[in-house]
Amino acid sequence: MVIKGLKNGPYEIKLEGKKFVVEKEDGSQVVKEGAIYLCRCGSSKNKPFCDGSHGRCGFEAPEVIIDVK
Ligand code: FES
Repeated sequence: MVIKGLKNGPYEIKLEGKKFVVEKEDGSQVVKEGAIYLCRCGSSKNKPFCDGSHGRCGFEAPEVIIDVK
């Protein structure tokens, strides 16, 4: 599995054919299929998911690839 930190953006985790069940801070669950994008700028209003706020807050970070073995 590879986790990508997109340049100036969120962490991307892709697992084709898999479901991500994410429990949010308020106890609700969100189910996403295939891929999730997790905020790493801290500005999202929909944490832990990216909501595009990184583009408005000037977040800068290099691309990073994390290979989970
Ligand atoms: S990385 Fe996109 S809103 Fe934080």
